[in-house]
Amino acid sequence: MLALTPILLALAIFVSASPCTGTISSLDDVSSAVKCTTVVINGFTVPAGKTLQLDLQSGAQVTLNGDITFGTKEWAGPLFQISGTNVNFNGNGHTFNGQGEWYWDGQGSNGGTTKPHPMMKIKVSGTFTNLKVLNSPAHVYSVSNPAQLTMSKLTIDNSAGDQSNSKSGGKAAGHNTDGFDVSTTDLTIEDSVIHNQDDCIAINKGKNIVFQRNTCTGGHGISIGSISTGATVSGVTISGNTITNNDQALRIKTKSDATSASVSGVTYSGNTATGIRKFGVIIDQSYPSTLGTPGNGVKISDINFTGSKNTISVASGASRVAVNCGSSSCSGTWDWSALSVTGGKTGQINYSGIKNFSQ
Ligand SMILES: *[C@@H]1O[C@H](CO)[C@@H](O)[C@H](O)[C@H]1NC(C)=O
Ligand SMILES: *[C@@H]1O[C@H](CO)[C@@H](O)[C@H](O)[C@H]1NC(C)=O
Repeated sequence: MLALTPILLALAIFVSASPCTGTISSLDDVSSAVKCTTVVINGFTVPAGKTLQLDLQSGAQVTLNGDITFGTKEWAGPLFQISGTNVNFNGNGHTFNGQGEWYWDGQGSNGGTTKPHPMMKIKVSGTFTNLKVLNSPAHVYSVSNPAQLTMSKLTIDNSAGDQSNSKSGGKAAGHNTDGFDVSTTDLTIEDSVIHNQDDCIAINKGKNIVFQRNTCTGGHGISIGSISTGATVSGVTISGNTITNNDQALRIKTKSDATSASVSGVTYSGNTATGIRKFGVIIDQSYPSTLGTPGNGVKISDINFTGSKNTISVASGASRVAVNCGSSSCSGTWDWSALSVTGGKTGQINYSGIKNFSQ
């Protein structure tokens, strides 16, 4: 018995440390490769209707060695899913190609054919960096990290979806191509480049969220909401982003019928926007209407434009700033001293707690 103990101990250490390198060159390799703490993914095509799903060891290092193309099929997706704690994923600048052009019909997830979405389901803590997503069928990243996650140097290129195609009736073919859909805590997204046809980021609930130094082109801007019943958003920093040719630059939208919900502690700093088509800044409690009858069930407080100047230039015909609060749902003093919006026309602001700003 005694003689066996060191052997068992050595075996236990060997099994728990798993110092192997797992290499993935097809879906058949995944189940054994993810037992290792080092995982290398070579370029290959994921068969249509399958998810490339990595359920990783804690502390795993994942590196991409080539481009991944996802086969096309009408199904729900996701195309990629990754889970684990303290993971480092490095795409090495390689591409995940969703072949969105095969699906796009101008209707996104609202109609037409079934499109796999989200394309990318991220359920890791740690870091996720240096990956390009090309042509997502609809929504790109959905993030629900178990602990602090920093996503950086990501590219989303859905620029081809700006054009109409034979199925889109003259509209942009890409639709509902949200960059990041976020309902989570302790998340930083930075230094990324997003070209799409919907929200650059939509924060639906959560706290301690930072979105900084990103570039958003072509879509619906940086959005908090739509806020639904029971959702709480707090502690959000939106800073140093560049927003070009979007419908809105910066937006908070809450559902008119939502209850027991709140948005608080949002700071905008050093953001720059040009070519904004509808609203420079819009805070609207009447969703799904725009500037309709607002509800009172989502409390909004502590929304500031402070620190470095936020400089927003809107197109002619667009409104500079619109605030449509419920009769009693917005509260406190909001410091908007670092906001400058030019061009277009004056919007309507109906909350009196906004200080240090006039349009
Ligand atoms: C926002 O500004 C108000 C008024 O100056 C201040 O009381 C509050 O602490 C600020 N909030 C944040 C998150 O900085
Ligand atoms: C803002 O305007 C809407 C629409 O007219 C109105 O229902 C709401 O009570 C107003 N809110 C405030 C704070 O005056």
